[in-house]
Amino acid sequence: MKRFAILTSGGDAPGMNAAIRAATLLGVGKGAEVFGVMHGYEGLVAGELVPLLPKEVASIIRDGGTMLGSARCLAFHERPVRDEARAHLAAAGIEGLVVIGGNGSLTGMQAITDPAENTTGLKAIGLPASIDNDVGVTRLAIGVDTAINTIVDACDKISDTASAHDRTFIVEVMGRDCGYLAMTSAIASAANAVLFPEMDKSEDEIVDTVARAVITAHRREGRSKKVLVIKAEGVRITTDRLQELLDAKVKAELGHHVKTETRVTVLGHVVRGGRPSALDRQIASRLANVAVQALLSGETRMMAAWLPPIGMPEGMVKPAGDPQCSLVDIDRVLTETRAMLDGSSPFVKWRKKVFQEVEDVLAL
Ligand code: F6P
Repeated sequence: MKRFAILTSGGDAPGMNAAIRAATLLGVGKGAEVFGVMHGYEGLVAGELVPLLPKEVASIIRDGGTMLGSARCLAFHERPVRDEARAHLAAAGIEGLVVIGGNGSLTGMQAITDPAENTTGLKAIGLPASIDNDVGVTRLAIGVDTAINTIVDACDKISDTASAHDRTFIVEVMGRDCGYLAMTSAIASAANAVLFPEMDKSEDEIVDTVARAVITAHRREGRSKKVLVIKAEGVRITTDRLQELLDAKVKAELGHHVKTETRVTVLGHVVRGGRPSALDRQIASRLANVAVQALLSGETRMMAAWLPPIGMPEGMVKPAGDPQCSLVDIDRVLTETRAMLDGSSPFVKWRKKVFQEVEDVLAL
């Protein structure tokens, strides 16, 4: 393969630049010409292709976001739009694509290389990049580690002021329908309670969980009454409603003479930004290495996954040169992703069980 292009798409994730850098340097080092697609699939459909040179990517490993820009492109669900994208690549003599992104981006990659419509013979390899950690098969996606560190840093700061005022803080974090960020950051920031969508709690149960943490803290002698609650955005109760119901329940239980105060912080897109952690730089660079080697040796419709996947059927996983990485059939990845999101995946059941065990420890 003489020419390939790199594309970042969907919600950006810290470490995308590290992946672009490694893919470019490796590609050029192996004698290929490397191009960047600006603004994800939207840019691909518009033919926004730029040559990528080593000197342009040399120091981007430290930068958050993505130098190529990103977008969510709903039009890419339509075949004629994908035909246009393939035509732009073919006209530029580009035979391969490295797709860096989350579920939507990998679904786009599956569609653009679908043998039923891929008349140009385009090849593509995907890299999982999403702070949500909701991509099937890979144990970590690019960006997850930095996002956890960002949340923990924010929660440490919030804990300082919460302790000073003996307050309860509800901190909402991103993660779409996946509770991974909430759970892992709750452990690392010593939160008193965590709310994540996989638990599927009713509104009453949610309020009970948080109220139990607040009441326990207020009944402890000689210790701060600070309470830190991490709520995943996928838990379907607004922070305002939770705050209102919580205050009413706690007052009813502890009595109106006991002073309790609740504040809410929604971290929002702060969680997606910032310099990538050392682990994210490493995951991104090593996955990019595996992806480029695979693409140049003629592989297609695979995703480079971090850590060997468990229980994958034969023929769907290929070992990569890097012992921490493997190549997994894209259809299998997306089937597993759907099972993770609807809760039927054994992996999610296991995650949920671990979460439940940890929840009791958090309440201490
Ligand atoms: O998928 C990454 C993510 O940051 C989610 O955690 C969040 O729900 C969503 O993207 C936000 O999307 P947007 O930036 O389009 O508002």
